Amino acid sequence: MENLFLQPTSTTTLLVTAGILLVWYVFYPNFDRKRKDLPGPRPLPLFGNLFQINPKSFNSTLYELSKKYGSVFTVYLGPQKVVILAGYKTVKDALVNHAVEFGDRYSSPGFHDLSGEQRNGIIFANGDSWKEMRRFALINLRDFGMGKKAAENKIIEEVQYLIDVFERHEGQPFSTAKSINNAVSNIISSIVFGSRFEYSDEEFTLMITRANDNFRLLGSSSLQLYNMFPWIFQWARNRRHLKRNVAENRKQMKRLIGRLQGTLNVEMCRGFVDTFLAHRQKLEDLKITDAHYDIENLVSTTANLFVAGTDTTGTTLRWILLLMAKYPQIQDQVQAELSRVVGDRQVRAEDRKNLPFADAVIHETQRFANILPISVPHQTSTDVTFQGHFIRKGTPVFPLLTSVLWDESEWESPHTFNPAHFLDKDGKFVKRDAFMAFSAGRRACPGEGLAQMELFLFFTSLVQRFSFTPPPGVKEDDLDLTPALSFTRTPSPHELCAISRGGIQN
Ligand code: HEM
Repeated sequence: MENLFLQPTSTTTLLVTAGILLVWYVFYPNFDRKRKDLPGPRPLPLFGNLFQINPKSFNSTLYELSKKYGSVFTVYLGPQKVVILAGYKTVKDALVNHAVEFGDRYSSPGFHDLSGEQRNGIIFANGDSWKEMRRFALINLRDFGMGKKAAENKIIEEVQYLIDVFERHEGQPFSTAKSINNAVSNIISSIVFGSRFEYSDEEFTLMITRANDNFRLLGSSSLQLYNMFPWIFQWARNRRHLKRNVAENRKQMKRLIGRLQGTLNVEMCRGFVDTFLAHRQKLEDLKITDAHYDIENLVSTTANLFVAGTDTTGTTLRWILLLMAKYPQIQDQVQAELSRVVGDRQVRAEDRKNLPFADAVIHETQRFANILPISVPHQTSTDVTFQGHFIRKGTPVFPLLTSVLWDESEWESPHTFNPAHFLDKDGKFVKRDAFMAFSAGRRACPGEGLAQMELFLFFTSLVQRFSFTPPPGVKEDDLDLTPALSFTRTPSPHELCAISRGGIQN
């Protein structure tokens, strides 16, 4: 009886809702006076462009849409309007010529879970706190890392540990993922904490696994849906997993920082954490209050450097080795160049200028693998009129790096792995403006110098020592270059053989 009574009311509610949605759909574009300026696929109320954007191939869909709607367009991720910037000229114009206007960070609900309420640290912060932490981190990266002999020596030492692990497989197929991540992570760990970890250290490996896991979770369909409709998908399993990982990693960072605090000698700073703590102590001694230098900010900044410095560089190295196994002629050429220029001794950073082919292979891998296809999302810091389009303050902006690294008007063969993109007719290395793997402008990757040194030394030392091949019975052509679903474009799980080429002299 009760059900029967409810039926007409439910039908009326449904009809009224459908009517409102229909009117909204028909007239919606006119409600936002400014929207007519920005092209883009037509959104449905509430759902936005959900049905035009496949969460499983989010970046490729945006890339395809850019071919139809041009270099500045909008998509609606659920009810959230997002501006997409596409193509080298437009992305550079926004990030470099309008650096301040496009320089804030957008925190989607997923990123919000990663950064926590305070939104401090570097990656997810804005304003004065971001400026101070980025400046402080850059000084420290310079002092403890980039361009320094000490960093070069640390990388060379770590290469040896990695070579030992590879050698233990005796040419049999294995997944390179874990050991590469451990090795790469140890470089940023040395800079941040002042020391490396053993690969068997459970605390260390758990921290890396959770950080990598978070990238995978962020790229999952359920997290994309959570970003669009947080109130519905907040209970999604992947979201809860992400939150658990973040909490665990924060706890672990605090433990590591606590240990360093207990043995701090301000006259002999071991790494970034020590310098931060020493600076904090100095401020306290001088009775200066500077809210940026609190322990929570140190935890976030340390976690940011650890995460940003591990997955990116590790993923790129895995792509290079996979590409070498797939294109053995290119691997042969790198090895021939190395034999000619370096011979049997350990490769050093200064050899790079004499190894243009190896350098071109690294750059081409970064271009082709395109590991951060939408960079890390930005947002406008103020109202801005950009290329004739009005964009309101606080609008999320995705600089589509895919459309820069694969820009058909910039690259001779954008969809092919072709190291010649970075070589002139005499075989000399050439820089290309559209190489924007590290983004550009005020948010550009502060770890670029360190990452480039790592990629160069790890890659050249590994191919000097080993030839990478597919597992027996797998043809080169069959090696799959389809990326796995993740926030970064990561190679799908695969195995390779590292065939020893004999020793080198250190
Ligand atoms: C191959 C390796 C790497 C690539 C491709 C890469 C790429 C990027 C990209 C595209 C961004 C986003 C820039 C933007 O918002 O426009 C970024 C940000 C960042 N990267 Fe890297 N990165 C790499 C390695 C590193 C390393 C080794 C570190 C550690 C020192 C690092 C630390 C950071 C930090 C802290 C940010 C945030 C900057 C900010 O918000 O101001 N990255 N990186």
